[in-house]
Amino acid sequence: MLLLSNCRVLVHDSLVECNIASDESGKIRKISRSAISGSFDEKIDCKGLVALPGMVDPHVHFRDPGQTAKEDFYTGTASALAGGTTTILDMPNNAPSISTLARLKEKVAMVRKKAVCDYGLYFGATPQNQEVAAEAIKNPAVFAVKVYLGSSTGDLLIEHVADFQKHLSTLPAEFPVCVHAEDEREIRKLTEEYKKRDPKGKVEYHNIIRSPITAAISVEATCDAVSKAHRGVHICHASTKAELDIVSTYKNGGVPVTLEVCTHHLFLTEHDARALGNYGKVNPPLRSRLDVASVWDELSKERSPIDCIASDHAPHTIKEKEQDYWQAPSGVPGVQLRVPLMLDAANHNLISLAQMVRYCATNPARIFGLPTKGTIAQGFDADIILVDLKKERVVRVEDQLSKAGWTPFEGRKLRASVEKTILGGKLAFDGENVCLARGEGKLAARG
Ligand code: NCD
Ligand code: ZN
Ligand code: ZN
Ligand code: ZN
Repeated sequence: MLLLSNCRVLVHDSLVECNIASDESGKIRKISRSAISGSFDEKIDCKGLVALPGMVDPHVHFRDPGQTAKEDFYTGTASALAGGTTTILDMPNNAPSISTLARLKEKVAMVRKKAVCDYGLYFGATPQNQEVAAEAIKNPAVFAVKVYLGSSTGDLLIEHVADFQKHLSTLPAEFPVCVHAEDEREIRKLTEEYKKRDPKGKVEYHNIIRSPITAAISVEATCDAVSKAHRGVHICHASTKAELDIVSTYKNGGVPVTLEVCTHHLFLTEHDARALGNYGKVNPPLRSRLDVASVWDELSKERSPIDCIASDHAPHTIKEKEQDYWQAPSGVPGVQLRVPLMLDAANHNLISLAQMVRYCATNPARIFGLPTKGTIAQGFDADIILVDLKKERVVRVEDQLSKAGWTPFEGRKLRASVEKTILGGKLAFDGENVCLARGEGKLAARG
């Protein structure tokens, strides 16, 4: 049992000083402005620190099993903890992809032994596996089905809308389906054209080949398909004004679409990609200043079409990124920096602290059916981060626990630091080191 004393917590929009105690099952037992009595195994004086819910990252690629040279489930979840994230949902585009029941079972057994933060998994949709997916979601480890309508890292791809529609009609209407929405025909057409012109290529092509229109076409097709199937959908990594406009229209029309944006699309532009080279190659691409500004504009609104912020943590090795543009894989690491970046944004009044918490914890927990996560309240899991909103820190590669060994945010000054991370009432990260053993991260409860 843990006692956090003198911490400030968010009540509506203001910070209120209080004490928080957890019980022996790792839940929040009591929150009180006056002293809490009882015997505690551990007490932390949180003077000067703000207590926020342990954050939920609904979109990461930890590469395990299959590509553990890039990341594994231990380093990925350790990196999450160090960045204030206590629950992650891991994508199925492993090598090979998690699109059969046997591979799902193997992955569930493997991650159990390695995780240091709480987790859930995605199951991968293929053109043929509708029946399998309907069976797979009965496994309590599966929180959503992932559909790639455009090709990205890995071989998961559904090219024909009819195969997507079959998934939509086979899966229960309330079960989350998440879509990588980029139009595969457009991507192919433009890739061929540009490859002919320039066999080496350069990252400047990325936002042309995978243009905002390419994303808009696919988001529109996705929303159209789900509205006809009388169900909702979650749009992954939206990055343009056009996508936000389309989704807003469907939302206003009553279609339960939820919308995710990613930190790299908020803090980097196509202009930065020129300096970053292939380290700035990511799907969807880094966008124009105008698109980035539109996303921020929507994000800052009280009634925003955007529901949550993910990292889309997608590590690749330096060696892979150093290849020519055409060969280099797409994706940037970011699970450890999502929370610091968004806290810094809140510090600079780009959004409020309450919005930050909604986008990074409360909303992802609601969308993906994590009833014990994302909120500091009695009965919820005692997943809490203690942050210093005044401390300035510089992003350094050496501090990143990911195996990637690089970050596109290197050298950035961020005002906000995650001082401690608590998972299920236990100190999980003490500001320097991960304090839990492999396997102490648990499968999150699915509601
Ligand atoms: C992701 C990856 O590498 O797994 N890459 C990326 O550019 N975002 C896949 C994905 O999310 O599309
Ligand atoms: Zn994607
Ligand atoms: Zn510039
Ligand atoms: Zn992704």
